[in-house]
Amino acid sequence: MYPLGFYRDKNGELSVQNIKVSELAKKYGTPLYIYDSEIMKERYDIFFDTVKEVKGSIHYAVKANDSINVIKFFSKLGCGADIVSIGEFEKCIAAGVPANKIIFSGVGKAKNEIEIALRNNILQFNIESEEELYDIHYIASKIKKKANICLRVNPDIAPRTHKKISTGEKETKFGIDFQNVKEIYKKLHELDYISPVGLGVHIGSQIFDFNFFNKAYFNLKVLADDLRKSGFMVPSLDLGGGIGVDYKDDIEPNFIEYKRILSNLFLKSDYKLSFEPGRSLIAQAGILVTKVIRNKKTKDKNFIIVDAAMNNLIRPTLYDAYHKIEHVEKSESPKVTADIVGPICETGDYLALERNLNYIDNNKFLAIKTTGAYSSVMSSNYNSRADAVEVMIVNNKDHQIKKIDTIKDIIAKEKLIDFD
Ligand code: LLP
Repeated sequence: MYPLGFYRDKNGELSVQNIKVSELAKKYGTPLYIYDSEIMKERYDIFFDTVKEVKGSIHYAVKANDSINVIKFFSKLGCGADIVSIGEFEKCIAAGVPANKIIFSGVGKAKNEIEIALRNNILQFNIESEEELYDIHYIASKIKKKANICLRVNPDIAPRTHKKISTGEKETKFGIDFQNVKEIYKKLHELDYISPVGLGVHIGSQIFDFNFFNKAYFNLKVLADDLRKSGFMVPSLDLGGGIGVDYKDDIEPNFIEYKRILSNLFLKSDYKLSFEPGRSLIAQAGILVTKVIRNKKTKDKNFIIVDAAMNNLIRPTLYDAYHKIEHVEKSESPKVTADIVGPICETGDYLALERNLNYIDNNKFLAIKTTGAYSSVMSSNYNSRADAVEVMIVNNKDHQIKKIDTIKDIIAKEKLIDFD
């Protein structure tokens, strides 16, 4: 047997299940994303145990990693999905997620997206404005299909996370202002093609202080109880996602505390609860393997130039995010402090700044850890760079899960104009 996840074998080589990461890097080339299905299962089990007492349903937030195999894996374990586009919807269908387990979130659902989702009988729309309600009602009445509507509430809570991923403050584009919820919820009951299903919150991502969840859920419940007292139907509450993942020290989120919050608030109620975890299910299951192109030394600094770049992993430069970086093979060389940078022509193209690690020779591999979530999915072809290869390890076997466009394929997508 082997330890769970990415571990060092007896020779100090980074491995996953029974496979050496360096072998995968040689077989598939780099940059290379590797996902471990056993960590995905472990993360799902932990989340499931946390919400089972309150009978919560889990809707994997596909935006975290929209690889069809990732969606399918979670679906087979029992997850529904939380989507924000019809593209994600199609991926879920391709992965075998039943449409009636799909929640459609997001501030900007286009009319054609609403119609497709409605025709396919998705579970519910989490809506973010009164304007959206009328758009959905118009389409629903046109095709004579009732739409299940949940109002996403903006609770005006700042959960101390990076400002670009804080979504519950009133200045953000998200949700319906707390004070307007009652009035709009009433309207759900007056529209023929709308079925009210409840209220939702999602206050942001990378949340470590669970008091913020407690506050948001408490306020949501007060509002829902109040609506019920006024005679409205409020069967469900959607509690969103947002549980933080510790990229630096791998400290486990306090799921016991989260469970306690849920039990205190909801155990004695009959609200049907749903959750939309993304990062906490998949972040730790992925690594990005990259090869050192060359070491560059200036008077002031060391640079390790690698073949992965901000187009493969934008989190460090976009959110000042920290990802651990390790040698793939065993190394006992002296420590250096270096910026780990990609080949892209921008100063912002870095994976780590001022990182202290063992010196690494050209052509050796580094592993960038905790890159299962919001990593490959946010990649681009900037600088005409092809995507990274992606593999998933299942039962000691590596499976390539994505065909990679060569630069020829990328060129073939463009149409040449005849300028003569
Ligand atoms: N539900 C809604 C409505 C969301 O907007 C999100 C994430 C989730 C659920 C899942 O949240 P999670 O459990 O993954 O925290 N690209 C950023 C994160 C953006 C999160 C967007 N919304 C990053 O790399 O940190």
